[in-house]
Amino acid sequence: TLEGLPAVRRLTAWEPTRLESLAGEYETPLYVLDLDRVRENARRLESAFPDAEILYAVKANALSDALETLHEAGIGLECASAGELSRALVVTDSGADVHYTAVNPPAGDLDIAVEAWEAYPELTITAGAEDTIDRLEERGYDGRLCLRVNPGIGAGHHEKVQTGANAKFGVPAERAVDVLADAADRGFDVVGIHAHVGSGVSSDQLDAHREFVSRMGELARSVTAAVGDLEFVDIGGGFGVPYREADAPLDLEAVAEATREAVGDVDAQLTIEPGRYFVADAGVLLTEVNTVKDARETTLVGVDAGMTTLLRPAMYDAYHPIRNLTADTEADSSDGDRSRGTTAQTITGPICESGDVFCTDRELPESERGDLLAIGNAGAYGYEMANQYNSRPRPASVVIEDGTVRLARRRETIDDVTSVERES
Ligand code: LLP
Repeated sequence: TLEGLPAVRRLTAWEPTRLESLAGEYETPLYVLDLDRVRENARRLESAFPDAEILYAVKANALSDALETLHEAGIGLECASAGELSRALVVTDSGADVHYTAVNPPAGDLDIAVEAWEAYPELTITAGAEDTIDRLEERGYDGRLCLRVNPGIGAGHHEKVQTGANAKFGVPAERAVDVLADAADRGFDVVGIHAHVGSGVSSDQLDAHREFVSRMGELARSVTAAVGDLEFVDIGGGFGVPYREADAPLDLEAVAEATREAVGDVDAQLTIEPGRYFVADAGVLLTEVNTVKDARETTLVGVDAGMTTLLRPAMYDAYHPIRNLTADTEADSSDGDRSRGTTAQTITGPICESGDVFCTDRELPESERGDLLAIGNAGAYGYEMANQYNSRPRPASVVIEDGTVRLARRRETIDDVTSVERES
């Protein structure tokens, strides 16, 4: 019955028993990423945007295996920090199709980016402030420069991710021509303009997307007339994916069509840089139930993953599909003479915060201690936002490729958490 429902597509494609054996072997909490699905998502983007240059926003999931898979598939890499840039250069051994998008960059990040450019002169640096351009110049940089603009319009799944309207990001679009003319005069190789409207843009926000790309088209025409030809117009990422069973998948063709209408006549390459779209539905987080208790209004289910493992529900009230794999296996087994009823459950982790909650009063098969739960759509901004609050080591990650499983990143130990402090 779950067949064909987008938010749980990946969960149903993987046999529950298979995930149970992974949890047995690698322990929980455990991130699982299906690289074949990542490749499929890349192909879907390529077929909707056949003429665009496609970059992957590394911040969604920086696991080296994911970067290698996408690089091999011909996808470029967009990096938000020196750390992401270092990862990208190890994987690509080239600056071509690698963009570093600097947001209030710490000095060390700029030092590393400029050093990277000396080794890989095809690297593109995207500056979002005039200060950043000055600081690049101070470091002797006169390479490929793209300007991030603030289009003055945002969209996305939550106000905290609507970058296009948040003044932190980019130079106000109306200042872009002056800033780029000045940069060109100073000897930078001006190659593009960039903006990112926000993250998790759904089909019902197509009007905002249309307005955003039309502003980008207009700006590209003014820059071309006043400063000179642009190599590319980068409209960022933000393509949403369904999280709820009832959500419709994003109409990628409609997004592509609206984009073509707005920038198709600009004599420059269209560049897109989605993150979530490549990896979200390729990942699950496995976690084990260790506590079940009746609370006043709900059944409280304690699991071994928490907001330190997957922050999105606590930070954005984000919905993630959850399945009880143990209950599924029981129901599927031929001698299964028991079927569990469902109850309203609040699933919480081990962190000392009352916001450490994955879902509230969600109707799920009755949980029992030892059950294995799968939290779906955890491939994007899952492990990436994990942290060590409460001195909790971060989990392991495994990848599945061509039907085989391998450990991609080992589980941290308590020693990993404490060993960076002064030796006592
Ligand atoms: N390009 C730029 C410049 C960005 O800032 C971002 C995301 C992307 C591309 C990729 O956006 P995507 O295609 O993944 O939506 N932690 C939040 C998402 C924050 C995204 C920030 N920037 C979440 O879990 O929803």
